[in-house]
Amino acid sequence: MTITLTGISKVFGDFTAVHPLDLTIPEGSFFALLGASGCGKTTTLRMIAGLEEPTGGSIRLGDEDITGLPPHKRPVNTVFQNYALFPHLDVSENVAFGLRRRGITSVRKQVEEMLELVELGQLAKRKPRQLSGGQQQRVALARALINRPQVLLLDEPLGALDLKLRRQMQLELKRIQTEVGITFVHVTHDQEEAMTMADTVAVMNAGRVEQLGAPDELYERPRSTFVANFLGTSNLIEAEITETEGEYLLLKAVGTDTALRLPAERCAVEDPQAGGKVLVGVRPEKITLAHAEDADTGSGKGSADNRLSGRIRDAGYLGVSMQYVVDTPVCPEFSVYEQNVERDARLAPGAEVVMRWRPAHTFALDAAQDADAGTLEDSL
Ligand SMILES: Nc1ncnc2c1ncn2[C@@H]1O[C@H](COP(=O)(O)OP(=O)(O)OP(=O)(O)O)[C@@H](O)[C@H]1O
Ligand SMILES: [Mg+2]
Repeated sequence: MTITLTGISKVFGDFTAVHPLDLTIPEGSFFALLGASGCGKTTTLRMIAGLEEPTGGSIRLGDEDITGLPPHKRPVNTVFQNYALFPHLDVSENVAFGLRRRGITSVRKQVEEMLELVELGQLAKRKPRQLSGGQQQRVALARALINRPQVLLLDEPLGALDLKLRRQMQLELKRIQTEVGITFVHVTHDQEEAMTMADTVAVMNAGRVEQLGAPDELYERPRSTFVANFLGTSNLIEAEITETEGEYLLLKAVGTDTALRLPAERCAVEDPQAGGKVLVGVRPEKITLAHAEDADTGSGKGSADNRLSGRIRDAGYLGVSMQYVVDTPVCPEFSVYEQNVERDARLAPGAEVVMRWRPAHTFALDAAQDADAGTLEDSL
């Protein structure tokens, strides 16, 4: 069932944890709330679960207003980070718990089905302490799903797992969600986790949703510096708009003659004007790097590309890719990722290089925001 939050907010004392928020979570979707620590993810989730009373606004499930319903009357279940399994009950009794509490005695078939769904059939008689973290996590999931909730809320459910197991469980969770077809609302601060699993991601920042969309849309077309930096890495260049005619915006990097171009529809500024300032952005993997000696300067192939000269400061070998840091006159520390196929040995620190990328891979953001919002430095 579709969850509709209308103007939902939460104030603790004089601190606003969640500003009035409008959010529609479509039935059957895998929806992620993504944001840094303290931005209001858990509070939002707890309001949907009925564990936290909203200061204002309403919550509907389908056509029904559930704002005033106590938690146990909502067709909603929550899986928490610490799983909270019953240590003295074995796996199948943990999973059966919700049915037993409702007075259902013939639980065997449903429990078996659930254990099969989460691939724990072999471990039904074990106690939680005899299970790995990932297995405990799956018990917690089965225990919630057996109640056949219409909505499953997951608060950092993979937070306790190591990286490799977390990646594996992400795929597993996604499979289970597709199989059962109910709405999952998943809270995480891990952008990769949100992007691999969710159909729709709401990026939260300080109690507000900054941007909402499909993962590729958020990544390819961020609309704020926070989203540009929080989801992956962005290179941002201060630039001035020189021409707004036609399908393309023409720009000049501030204080230089470097011309840049991008499709007007990839500019997040409303009604951009010549003379206006923007931050021009490009993702590191969209850029190709050539040694200055090889970079053709004339017309021909790729002449419509954006180009920037610079000098390599740092080259890092990451196995699948090379990561370069390039200093340029318009912006220090440009990040460039190159697939590790044929490496040009000349591309080492100190080398003069030319970077190029397509206008269609370029975006522009309002310059009146902190260019570092959402970066690691920003959060320290
Ligand atoms: N009961 C409370 N009383 C006062 N402040 C609270 C309460 N619960 C949460 N907060 C504050 O509200 C803000 C949002 O908290 P919330 O738990 O929603 O963050 P979060 O996004 O889930 O963060 P994390 O990723 O660290 O879990 C935080 O600044 C927190 O300190
Ligand atoms: Mg939280």
